Amino acid sequence: SDDEMEQRIWSIKHKMKEKLYIPGHHYQKDEVIQFADAAGDSLQLAQLSAANKEAEFIVFCGVHFMAETADILTDSHQKVILPDMRAGCSMADMANITQTERGWKVMQQTFGDTILPLTYVNSTAAIKAFVGQHGGATVTSSNAKKMLEWAFTQKERILFLPDQHLGRNTAYDLGIPLDEMAIWNPIAERFEYDGDDLQKVKVILWKGHCSVHENFTVANIEEIRRTKPETNIIVHPECSREVVALSDYNGSTNYIIKTLEAAEPGTSWAVGTEMNLVNRLAKEHADKDVFSLNSMMCPCLTMNRIDLAHLLWSLESIEEGLVRNQIIVDPEVSRWAVLALDRMLERA
Ligand code: 13P
Ligand code: SF4
Repeated sequence: SDDEMEQRIWSIKHKMKEKLYIPGHHYQKDEVIQFADAAGDSLQLAQLSAANKEAEFIVFCGVHFMAETADILTDSHQKVILPDMRAGCSMADMANITQTERGWKVMQQTFGDTILPLTYVNSTAAIKAFVGQHGGATVTSSNAKKMLEWAFTQKERILFLPDQHLGRNTAYDLGIPLDEMAIWNPIAERFEYDGDDLQKVKVILWKGHCSVHENFTVANIEEIRRTKPETNIIVHPECSREVVALSDYNGSTNYIIKTLEAAEPGTSWAVGTEMNLVNRLAKEHADKDVFSLNSMMCPCLTMNRIDLAHLLWSLESIEEGLVRNQIIVDPEVSRWAVLALDRMLERA
């Protein structure tokens, strides 16, 4: 039963003490997040992984790219474990290294040596390594603006992988007009650009997106404005430009949490992000009216792969002396990827 599984997890945690560390992303289920030694957004989880030098086993409750990042940032004696290998991220899968190298060639032919690559941490270790090797950095949704500003001190143009929406929303916030942004379509291997002169382009947006956040739409916002005009609308910047533009607030999961904490009792909030976090916020803020911007709720199916049973299985395996589902980034990839992560962490 769930009760028995919970008891087992508590008891293993208690026995292993500092040898075990469980970071959990804010999108994890309640049944999992209750065991997290730290819950955080992607940036916080990367910082915490880099800072933890004691734990021999890091059981990462999040998705594959987060566990890879933890492996890159931790020492060689530390083992990072992902309780279910199927916990991937469809956005990270939208940019593979072969596509990136092929696209980069065309971009170099088109713009010469004027481009700095940046990648959202929601990307594979190989993409982070590519970016690190070319002088670029990773970004998260909570420091994208700062990192884009830095990138423009290095080069005239930016390639932003793999989330076109975070890239577009951040560049737009910095005052870059839409006709100075082009999309790189990695399948068709061509630019998608509506403006009059491609050479004006300052930001090249990889054509990737989050399949959870694309479910928050302009129609959802119009509906709420019509039926509950007093409601504040807050969304994650993985939502489209149109949705972000029509919202009242936008920011990372941590920003959303902080904004709700600071909100007055009695206020109403429609939240455009993953379901587990929205439900948790609704529970924690019973004095406010908190609900999902899309009534279909929008779960991240891969984040939800991590559940009580998988977490317990990982911990019991460790107890038996078996390390299952260890995430090991190739050392050569790691060597370059850490450069991209460090360039972010020193400015984060
Ligand atoms: P943040 O936690 O950085 O806001 O990222 C959201 C997300 O989609 C993680 O996959
Ligand atoms: Fe990936 Fe989107 Fe899920 Fe985050 S919410 S892990 S970006 S699919």
